[in-house]
Amino acid sequence: MKFDTPVTTNPIDQLKVVGKPIHRIDGELKTTGKAMYAYEWHDPNTPYVYGYPVGSTIAKGRIKTMNVDAAKRAPGVLAVVTTLDVGKREKGKFNTASLFGGDEIQHYHQAIAVVVAETFEQARAAANLVKVDYAEDKGVYDLAEAMKSAVKPKDAGGAPPDTAVGDFEGAFKSAPVALDETYSTPDQSHSMMEPHASIAAWDGEEITVWTSSQMIDWWRSDLATTLGIDKEKIHLMSPFIGGGFGGKLFLRVDAVLAAFGAKAAKRPVKVALPRPFIPNNTTHRPATIQRLRIGASRDGKITAIAHESWSGDQPGGQLETAAMQTRLLYAGENRMTAMRLATLDLPEGNAMRAPGEAPGLMALEIAMDEMAEKLGMDPVHFRILNDTQVDPEKPERPFSHRDLVGCLKLGAERFGWGGRGRPGTRREGKWMIGTGVAAAFRNNLLIPSGARVRLDRQGIVTVETDMTDIGTGSYTIIAQTAAEMMGLPIDKVAVQLGDSRFPVSAGSGGQFGANCSTSGVYAACVKLREAVIERLGLNASDVAFENGAVRSGTRSVSLGEAAGPDGLVGEDKIEWEKLSESHQQSTFGAHFVEVGVDVATGETRIRRMLAVCAAGRILNPITARSQVIGAMTMGAGLALSEELAVDTSLGFFVNHDLAGYEVPVHADIPYQEVIFMNETDPMSSPMKAKGIGELGLCGVSAAIANAIYNATGVRLRNYPMTLDKLIGGLPDVA
Ligand code: MOS
Repeated sequence: MKFDTPVTTNPIDQLKVVGKPIHRIDGELKTTGKAMYAYEWHDPNTPYVYGYPVGSTIAKGRIKTMNVDAAKRAPGVLAVVTTLDVGKREKGKFNTASLFGGDEIQHYHQAIAVVVAETFEQARAAANLVKVDYAEDKGVYDLAEAMKSAVKPKDAGGAPPDTAVGDFEGAFKSAPVALDETYSTPDQSHSMMEPHASIAAWDGEEITVWTSSQMIDWWRSDLATTLGIDKEKIHLMSPFIGGGFGGKLFLRVDAVLAAFGAKAAKRPVKVALPRPFIPNNTTHRPATIQRLRIGASRDGKITAIAHESWSGDQPGGQLETAAMQTRLLYAGENRMTAMRLATLDLPEGNAMRAPGEAPGLMALEIAMDEMAEKLGMDPVHFRILNDTQVDPEKPERPFSHRDLVGCLKLGAERFGWGGRGRPGTRREGKWMIGTGVAAAFRNNLLIPSGARVRLDRQGIVTVETDMTDIGTGSYTIIAQTAAEMMGLPIDKVAVQLGDSRFPVSAGSGGQFGANCSTSGVYAACVKLREAVIERLGLNASDVAFENGAVRSGTRSVSLGEAAGPDGLVGEDKIEWEKLSESHQQSTFGAHFVEVGVDVATGETRIRRMLAVCAAGRILNPITARSQVIGAMTMGAGLALSEELAVDTSLGFFVNHDLAGYEVPVHADIPYQEVIFMNETDPMSSPMKAKGIGELGLCGVSAAIANAIYNATGVRLRNYPMTLDKLIGGLPDVA
């Protein structure tokens, strides 16, 4: 199905099942421990063995020699496969640094061997016996230093790295009110609950891999390239995933090590990356340094806005596209954005939840708060005043639907924004209290997505797609979609996901999963409806699918009967055309936060959070809310604690576990509220939905930063906003 014109009405608009607060259909499997995550697949008749990775202890250089004699002699060891044994491999399309193979070391904890043994403990013990002799090179690890030689990359995630409209420099110089400040965000780690883990089992030349992947088809292709085998020989399964946040978008080394280990040991091998190995071995969100310049007239209209951002990555790597949202979020006739890429020898930087916008808004939305203050204007009002209904760089291009103003207004009302005091004036005992606001913005990406739906003689519809559910609720919204399309209650729909034998879907990433995968299921259901109509010889123009039956005139046939003994199948793929070129598709929101800052210690505690989101039709308010509160929680971490600390001489992330890399826990988040604007976007898809999972993160950290400022009068511009940065500016307490 080509989606090239805005939808009018379709069966989804009935909203008998779609849009309803239905609990996760996989919830029981998960809460009873029956949902099998990658490492847990266990066939009692299969003699699994265990692989343990060995990581490089230098960040840059070359391996001269490896001695694995002692490891091979250790108890229970079946095989040791080293990076030298497998030789240099062709890199997968989506990885910047090589995962495994050859003698070159590109980053700390790069995998250099896997030890396979009868038990996990034996493999781990033997891995410690591998001896390596390195020729070490000097690397570059400090972004603040490396940014001086940063270059303009060819590309910023498919967009140009620079844009300019009007005369920014001139307008900025002559602006009566102006801001020029620099902000920074640190390297951040996905820190999903489930570590990267894979089981590989060879059957002759064919291999089955159970893994934890957001994108089945990308992994399959890249694993084929890395192993040097035909993609068709790989069967990949990832039906349940314990979080990804972008860290499982691209093939990781656990799958590669399991495959090589299983080949060498001639046994199915399980490999989980140990937690302390993950931050340096896998990807992270790169640190940024961002300069914001904003000029405005005295009445608060932005006349000039510039956003420059610097980030670093491995040679051949990519930008953290932190200036992107500034091209679209606020009006202003004179504007420029520029993003520069430095070469760093730190582990590979890559996508983490809302890549670009999350760190970009962490800077931009503090700058907006600072500008509002310079103007003596309420920050909600300042944002409303500078709203735009068209792409400010290409005014002929409107937004498909944009309700940032509605989010800000409703949020201000519900939050009780009006009673806000001047910075540093509200006290409750030892707590300095403040509130902050920020806009949320994230684009709505469209990726082709396929599905197959089977109708059986019991009237059960089974959906098959390689879509993944990374905790987001894909199983449930896909079941809701098929139920709505076929006129069934949700318990008559079964959903099978995450298997490379199923049609290729959009996968889970970039908050495109929900809208795109359900649209693929919609397309497949249209085909299944046609098959039913054709089988029964009905007149398509007066057919209704409802209550488990298809009705035409006075004739009603149950779907089970229509399916017949062999059943019926519909398969299709949604493909997107034109609409996203003529119209900018984005999602919008507003975050409001209240914090208390301990006047003696500088400790910040969040007191309450509110997000108002405008993201098209909400397919399921329970799973959508869960996405947004999870994202708000992540935003609290990015504001207050999360930072991969770089050892700039040895070139690695020092706090590489969940003891040192601090993410929020329940006690950090006492109260969250989420409001969805009641809207649809007929240009986004047949579902009229858009993404929500990343929007919830966008802006929230800046709202916290702005609340800290309002509480204390101390303006911080470098994340995370830890006690040490605040305490010097707090009032003296005797
Ligand atoms: Mo997302 S960072 O594309 O999983």
